[in-house]
Order: sequence, then C-alpha cells, then structure tokens
Amino acid sequence: MRLTLIPGLTLVLSACCVFSQEPKGAPSPYEFKKVHDPNGTGKFFKGREIALVMGYQAAAWLERPEREKEEQTSKLVKALKLKPEMVVADVGAGSGYLTFRMAKLLPKGKVFANDIQKEMLEILRKRAAELKAANVEPVLGTETDPKLPNSGVDLIILVDVYHEFAFPLEMTQGMIKSLKPGGKLVFVEFRGEDPEVPIKLVHKMTVKQLLHEMKDHPLKYKETIGILPWQHIVVFEKVERSQP
Ligand SMILES: C[S@@+](CC[C@H](N)C(=O)[O-])C[C@H]1O[C@@H](n2cnc3c(N)ncnc32)[C@H](O)[C@@H]1O
Repeated sequence: MRLTLIPGLTLVLSACCVFSQEPKGAPSPYEFKKVHDPNGTGKFFKGREIALVMGYQAAAWLERPEREKEEQTSKLVKALKLKPEMVVADVGAGSGYLTFRMAKLLPKGKVFANDIQKEMLEILRKRAAELKAANVEPVLGTETDPKLPNSGVDLIILVDVYHEFAFPLEMTQGMIKSLKPGGKLVFVEFRGEDPEVPIKLVHKMTVKQLLHEMKDHPLKYKETIGILPWQHIVVFEKVERSQP
C-alpha cells in the first residue's frame, strides 16, 4: 500500500498496519464507508476518517534534516516545559525523533517510547545504544493498548499520531489510565483548519474535532499552543471523575 502524505512525497505503508477485527460485544463506535478519501481507511470515528498508518519504511522521512526548519521541533520541546525528573511517554514514537530530544532533558526521569511497529522500535533501540540514552525504554503497544504502566506517566505526547489510531477510543482510555492524576495528554497534529499546511486532509486534525473526540473522557482541556508553522499543540489534563 502506498500513501501520499504531502504532495510530491509517497510513503510505503507496511503490511503490519492492516486493521485487526473490531472487539466483539458492545456496539461499535466506528463506522465503515465504501466511498472515502484515498488516503484514508474507510473507517470513521465521530465523523472523522481514520488515516492509514505510516509504515516503518518511511522512517527516513521522519528523520529528514529539514524537519527542524519545517516543524520547529525544538520550539515544540521547549513548550512542553519538561522537568528533569518527569516520566514522559512518546506514543507513536516512530524512529524516536522526538524521544531523544526529550530524553536529554530528563536526566532523573525517562521516556517510554511506544509504537505498534516493532521495526520502528528496532531503529529506535539502535539509536538509543548509539546515543547511550539509558533513560529511553521502548514499549511495543497494540492497536488498542499502549501498554504503559498504570498511573505512572506525567506527560504523554503524540506527534502526528492520533489521526492514525485504528482504535482511538480504546487508545485514549489506555493512555488516560497510564497518566498520573493531573498528568498531561498533548496532541501535536497538522492544522486541519489551515489549507496552506501542505499535508493530505486525513493526516490533519482540527482543534474542534479533537475536542469533540475527547469530550467524554476524564480530561480537562487546558490550551492550544499556536507557535508552530504547521501544527497545533493541544493540551489536556487528566481529571479524577467522582463515582455516580
Ligand atoms: C507519522 S508517524 C510519527 C512518528 C513520530 N511521532 C514522529 O513525529 O517522528 C506515526 C507513528 O504512529 C504509530 N502508530 C500508529 N498507530 C499506533 C497505535 N495504535 N499505537 C502506537 N503507535 C501507533 C505508527 O506506527 C508510526 O510510527
């Protein structure tokens, strides 16, 4: 399968990323449509078409030298206001472009680098060895479970990932479970509101859609940080819900 993410760039999708079956039992929150965006899956969640997953073959694109200029990732990392002892999870870490930039700011903490593609984690493991980044722990998740420790994470960041989740509802529940009370869930997505951002539609998200998808979760919307050229940074905080 091939995926055009930005005009002029075609990325290969790996066979690993064909969606698995829906869990049996409860009515599905997902809808399937035959007519859909060629870059999408035909599977919809709350009116949004889920994008195809970027395969590990595209890891070089994630590490492209011009990424800093295009996405200003150093500004992004600064905006997270990381503290040296924090435990961070980079969900959908890919090759670890952001993981290693965060890990060096966490000398007393760590980064869980999660992904569903073992090949991505292999690339990441090699980099961790080269960089002697002992505070990076690769975590192989599933499409429905990030496999992070319960109430063990201060901040979860997803950079260009959430729109690819085959099971966004279950993944969000799993991520919230892993957050400490008051922990932050940070989405970095290409701005769906902005036609000038040169990324295919299903690989973008609007803030309105993200708020719609998060509204039933025990999360409080904190802010949208608009300092990046192409993406917005949308921050939520975990709240405890009292039992009815
Ligand atoms: C476009 S890449 C972004 C990688 C990285 N965040 C970055 O910005 O360099 C999206 C990544 O999300 C991963 N992904 C997709 N669905 C996932 C899921 N349910 N759980 C964890 N990772 C997932 C893919 O395997 C892929 O590595």
